[in-house]
Amino acid sequence: MIELQDVRKTYGDQVVLDRFSHGFATGSFTAISGPSGIGKTTLLQVIAGLLPIEEGQIVIDDQITDTKVQALHPSLRQVGYVFQFPALWPHLTVRQNILYGLMHQPRSLQEDRLSDIITKLDIAELMARRPAELSGGQARRVSLARTLITRPRFVLLDEPLNNLDARLKDQILSMVADYWVKQQATVIWVTHDPGEVSGLAPVVGTFSPFGLV
Ligand SMILES: Nc1ncnc2c1ncn2[C@@H]1O[C@H](COP(=O)(O)OP(=O)(O)OP(=O)(O)O)[C@@H](O)[C@H]1O
Ligand SMILES: [Mg+2]
Repeated sequence: MIELQDVRKTYGDQVVLDRFSHGFATGSFTAISGPSGIGKTTLLQVIAGLLPIEEGQIVIDDQITDTKVQALHPSLRQVGYVFQFPALWPHLTVRQNILYGLMHQPRSLQEDRLSDIITKLDIAELMARRPAELSGGQARRVSLARTLITRPRFVLLDEPLNNLDARLKDQILSMVADYWVKQQATVIWVTHDPGEVSGLAPVVGTFSPFGLV
């Protein structure tokens, strides 16, 4: 369960979250849409612990993670985040990027998960490359692999299908759907087109500064 209670977040004079309240039930799949610039990415960033909040609180699985005076470190939230613009480490290879979050795990577990995920996403031949040598669609899949390989309980995806062709859209959607079902994860999927996930019968919400409507 991710629960936002009366959360306030501003950038200077601009109020983006204004007593924002919403609960994301455990195991739910929520699609969030809304016009550009309204605050969808900001919402994901406060849930991930990447931005501080100014009022209210966020509770993840009975633990208060954020108030106006404290915030649990992002790495301790079990939240995986696939950014709107893939942010890969430029100096690491694709393989090193994907395995980054499993650095302290046994080698055998790393190899098992890696081979599974790169096969499903069809990126096995890219392992030795660096991010600058990838196309946009390849970088998007590497970014998804890097997030899911750590098996986060909560997965935030920011417009993950933007600017992809139909085949890649299907590949990414089925990877996330599979993960959601198998891991019983809680998924928040930001999109301009909620129709793209309609087959998963998501909770559908339109962003407003006060909550989802
Ligand atoms: N770091 C920042 N400093 C100041 N203003 C910001 C910052 N980040 C975002 N904003 C502003 O806050 C508002 C919400 O931005 P946000 O990125 O959350 O929108 P969005 O709904 O994700 O938009 P899009 O659909 O275009 O991705 C926008 O008006 C944006 O310009
Ligand atoms: Mg955005």
